[in-house]
Amino acid sequence: MANSPSGDSMTDRIVRVLESFSDDRTTQTATDIARRAGLPASTAHRIVNDLIAAGLLERDEENRVHLGMRLWELALRGSSALRLRQAALPHMEQVQMLIREHTQLAVLEHDEALFLERLSHPDAGANITRVAGRLPVHASSSGLVLLAYAHPDVRERVLSTPLRAVSKETVTDPSALRTLLTSIRRRGFVVAPGSIEAVSTGVAVPVRDRGEVVAALSVVLPRETATEPAIDALTTAARRIEKSLHDSR
Ligand code: PHB
Repeated sequence: MANSPSGDSMTDRIVRVLESFSDDRTTQTATDIARRAGLPASTAHRIVNDLIAAGLLERDEENRVHLGMRLWELALRGSSALRLRQAALPHMEQVQMLIREHTQLAVLEHDEALFLERLSHPDAGANITRVAGRLPVHASSSGLVLLAYAHPDVRERVLSTPLRAVSKETVTDPSALRTLLTSIRRRGFVVAPGSIEAVSTGVAVPVRDRGEVVAALSVVLPRETATEPAIDALTTAARRIEKSLHDSR
């Protein structure tokens, strides 16, 4: 693959173009993309046009660019995330029917909780989670579960970097976090009141495949809601998802 004078490959430049899109920046002009990807305008325009021709990017009537449906299609093809989501969805619906708040499925991705699915009741309370969005592992209930069962190297890496307080109640002290993670492994669930937002409590449990924790299943409840029904519903759903994953092998 040809390298530019700065030494980065064409693949690097394409990745930078794609990564210039984020949760809160889903459409951009080619000029914005060039700036954010740190590329000369002519290079960015050429890559954008090529990616549009391949269907990986799409252009709207106002000449703004967004990620293409083809990218979504290719990303899901045969992905472990899709298998997990399919196994989880019927059981997430059960949790949703019982608890009537938000129900989410997340995996650990580059030291963050990446959300694969979210079901929400029309009258449910606040929730900042988005599908294909990320939350810090030390702050979200799903992230705490994923961190508790992660490879020790991952845990040490996360605990050795400065931890940002998402809310006043986020646990950022490494030794307090270590104690919390130990208690999650002992109890098999976490209740995280106010860790992301003062108004809500996250409750999460691990989901295992072949003995390894592969996901976290969570609900976000209004702060004053009792958590026991959610812990029970999530634990039952996690067992059923695990059975479904086992049976689909
Ligand atoms: C959580 O998982 O703890 C959580 C996530 C989103 C919110 C609140 C809590 O808005």
